[in-house]
Amino acid sequence: MRLSVIGCGYLGAVHAAAMASIGHEVVGIDVDERKITSLSKGDAPFFEPGLQEILTEGISSGRLSFTTDMSAAQGAKVHFIGVGTPQQAGGYAADLTYVNAAVDGLLPYLSEGDLVAGKSTVPVGTAANLAGRVAETGATLVWNPEFLREGWAVQDTVDPDRLVAGVPSEDGHPTTEGERCADVLREVYHTAIAKDTPFIVTDYATAELVKVSANAFLATKISFINAMAEIAEVTGADVTTLADAIGHDARIGRKFLGAGIGFGGGCLPKDIRAFSARAEELGKGESVAFLREVDAINLRRRDRAVDLAVTALGGTVYNKNVTVLGAAFKPHSDDIRDSPALDVAVRLHGLGAKVTVTDPAAIENARRIHPQLDYVEDRDQALTGADAVIVVTEWDEWRRDLDPAHAATLVTGKIVIDGRNCLDATAWRSAGFEYHGMGRP
Ligand code: UGA
Repeated sequence: MRLSVIGCGYLGAVHAAAMASIGHEVVGIDVDERKITSLSKGDAPFFEPGLQEILTEGISSGRLSFTTDMSAAQGAKVHFIGVGTPQQAGGYAADLTYVNAAVDGLLPYLSEGDLVAGKSTVPVGTAANLAGRVAETGATLVWNPEFLREGWAVQDTVDPDRLVAGVPSEDGHPTTEGERCADVLREVYHTAIAKDTPFIVTDYATAELVKVSANAFLATKISFINAMAEIAEVTGADVTTLADAIGHDARIGRKFLGAGIGFGGGCLPKDIRAFSARAEELGKGESVAFLREVDAINLRRRDRAVDLAVTALGGTVYNKNVTVLGAAFKPHSDDIRDSPALDVAVRLHGLGAKVTVTDPAAIENARRIHPQLDYVEDRDQALTGADAVIVVTEWDEWRRDLDPAHAATLVTGKIVIDGRNCLDATAWRSAGFEYHGMGRP
């Protein structure tokens, strides 16, 4: 099928390449010339495992192309909207400027029977607001949220755990046009559907809410365990053992119970805030008031990591060499948007520490935003002379591959703060380190 994808960031670029990899003919469109030039050459403009391969393969097969020219969308049967919905400057609500611009830009090139499929995360009610504009062209709007995780984006797109289609509906049932749209999406995602991936057909509002509630749930789960870490800290309990124990209950599950410096990135923080803002607009702020707490707990954990460093270094980090292991908001990503890791590094720098940051993928991005920090590519060089080491992103490079006995030969002060509870505390202690975890004795 011929497809267009408007917006070629994390979501759109991966979606375009993944759709080409399953046999569709895809054009990716973005206003950012630098991004399009890079993608057209088959170069992934960000770090995402597996993306480079499917980009190269798609371009050389002739099924995948990229352009800044919106008219290239003409002739495609489904037009995916994958532009960003950042937090508004000066507020919590989502900024829909890019979604509106993408839809408006697309309108002149739509034909009778086309589908416009929104993938961006939007406040509930957005699709209903856009549907009329799209319908005037003879095309139909559907909402088809995306659940990919950075670092697993290709796999999550080709082989998702569920597909959701918000289609035109009346009284809670798809209209005839809604049914037709669902069938077109089934054709788009035929490879996943052949593997029995659940395909949920619903109305616009439910589809939009599935997305934001999934992210709200994940954020809540992380903040729940981080709240337990706070209690553990004043009682001498160990939050990692607690998480293991409650995680054995299949109703709870161990995933997303990793206590540490909390969640960041381009999705969870802004999505819970936008959800709160939208609920307020709907007069139901109280229904998700707990998300304010989720946000507050999350941000407190960054303070806690900084406090641990200050205390461990005798009450001040001023003029101390602190090595920060990590900058990306999570491993297998070079994304530093709202990164708790970088936030901790910046705060330590603000307190007068001589901060050295290393990260296997995110240094270039981090340096652009925070040029005041020192960046070192080589892990061992970064560790050399450290008065304290703080782990803020759980990359294998230190979680798995760094022998604490080796680290001990490089540092000046044997203090390690494990902001992700990812190190083997016993091994680090055996190597002579004073080990501080998050919510661990
Ligand atoms: C998140 C969701 O997991 C995806 O399902 C969703 O599609 C995506 O947002 C989106 O809306 O586009 P992502 O932002 O890639 O995906 O990152 P996650 O893997 O969810 O991690 C988010 C943050 O939570 C990271 O900073 C991570 O370090 C932190 N985290 C995760 C914890 O602190 N503890 C955990 O146990 C798990």
